[in-house]
Amino acid sequence: MTEPAKGISAAVLISGSGSNLQAIIDAAERGSIALKIAVVVSNRADARGLERARNSGIPTECIDNDMFEDRQAFDWALARSIDAYAPDLLVLAGFMRILSSEFVAHYAGRILNIHPSLLPAYPGLHTHQRAIDNKDPWHGCTVHFVTDELDGGPPIIQGRVPVREGDTAETLASRVLKLEHKIYPIAADLLATGRVHCKNGSTWLDGKALSRPIAYPHDIESERGQGCGP
Ligand code: GRF
Repeated sequence: MTEPAKGISAAVLISGSGSNLQAIIDAAERGSIALKIAVVVSNRADARGLERARNSGIPTECIDNDMFEDRQAFDWALARSIDAYAPDLLVLAGFMRILSSEFVAHYAGRILNIHPSLLPAYPGLHTHQRAIDNKDPWHGCTVHFVTDELDGGPPIIQGRVPVREGDTAETLASRVLKLEHKIYPIAADLLATGRVHCKNGSTWLDGKALSRPIAYPHDIESERGQGCGP
């Protein structure tokens, strides 16, 4: 799929709390995004996000990675379970598994992830502490398309917060998480309405390749009447 039609369905993949999932559920229930969550899939049976999905009447699946011999067998089972719902889009929301190239290729251009840093800074783990240790003035979060490269796919939208004197990884993480809850539903809606897609290794918005990620809130607030983003 390159340019999805208006209003699409998604499988949301989680491993834990699912607060980003909740933000997307809330936006969908309010009707402020054109996305229907077809299924929530977790690799952990005790993920709190599964309960959030059930509370909203969304089907859930658990594919426990410990039950599989290797990554390939797990990914194959995961894809089979997802494909039963035929979603247009996969939304990774705190899904703590690295996906194989074969899995990513199966859904090429159709997987989104949210990462708690201003990518390309700090792919991987412990992003908040790394930003503090490096005395960065700004930190934030990025929604991006998923490719083979860990946290390296084309970025769509970023939100940033100042790093404050005395911030700990926890205080910074909680401010960034609030921002994640704003930008993920926006990104999902941009995909769902066909305004954003992934082509030739870049993110395209309204028919143009982005030269930088959409900046939240600046580009979103200033887009009325002018076209969103860079
Ligand atoms: C978020 O910080 C997200 O950026 C990262 O994992 C965390 C998931 O949080 N990929 P939640 O499960 O959505 O609350």
